[in-house]
Amino acid sequence: MGRIYAIANQKGGVGKTTTAVNLAAAVAEAGYSTLLVDIDPQANATVGVGLEKDLSPSIYDVLSGAAPTLAAIRSSRINNLSVIPATPALAGAGVELPQQADFQHVLKEALDSIRDRFEFIILDCPPSLGPLTVNALAAADEVIVPVQSEYYALEGLAGLLETLELVKRQLNPNLTVCGLVLTMHDPRTRLSRDVERELRTHFPRLVFDTVIPRNVRIGESPSHGLPVIHHDPHCAGAEAYVALAREVAARA
Ligand SMILES: Nc1ncnc2c1ncn2[C@@H]1O[C@H](COP(=O)(O)OP(=O)(O)OP(=O)(O)O)[C@@H](O)[C@H]1O
Ligand SMILES: [Mg+2]
Repeated sequence: MGRIYAIANQKGGVGKTTTAVNLAAAVAEAGYSTLLVDIDPQANATVGVGLEKDLSPSIYDVLSGAAPTLAAIRSSRINNLSVIPATPALAGAGVELPQQADFQHVLKEALDSIRDRFEFIILDCPPSLGPLTVNALAAADEVIVPVQSEYYALEGLAGLLETLELVKRQLNPNLTVCGLVLTMHDPRTRLSRDVERELRTHFPRLVFDTVIPRNVRIGESPSHGLPVIHHDPHCAGAEAYVALAREVAARA
């Protein structure tokens, strides 16, 4: 039965989608059958793996009960990687979901029917702790938190970890924090080095050894609809995500 990973941080632009897409591509490349589920109305993960953001059925149709989960699963041009796409209409689910009974578990129930088809299921969350992210956290076995190497990185992190504890107590006793991953790291700057040191001091066991560097190839690969390991397999960014995938698989 597939392990479900939510890639979550309520802070915007910290590298959630980049991590979801590239981790999914790297575990798929390692031979695991992988499903990437885009639950962000921005649909950046959908576009990042080369799909259009107006596909139907999408995760919106699944969450609203209009389509079975299986019908929304698409193959991608990457071996072993399937995708449930998002569309901008998913923004409506933020309002509509709470009108359903037990709305926090809608995604979990939707994924239960297909999770034995995959080994890894990776959820790309939106930048909020709203109903979509809560559904992801209620469905997940593990959370991976991308942390951007910048001045405000640690602000909000303690709050996020408290929220994860709350979700664990009230919605999903299985939830564990798989790890925190530093993203957009530039070891030449003192700021990046300070953020890394502080993060490792505060959360010694949680921070992955692998650090994702700021890398031009990572930034440009979504415009080609490709994960970085397919855009430029030998760049530093691709190697970092392959290393992260190994760590994640080892913690599974
Ligand atoms: N390691 C990196 N090197 C260079 N650019 C990066 C890197 N990681 C992410 N980016 C770029 O930074 C921007 C934000 O990244 P991303 O979209 O992954 O963040 P996010 O947390 O998903 O954002 P949102 O909160 O809006 O969903 C994107 O333009 C992405 O291409
Ligand atoms: Mg995103």
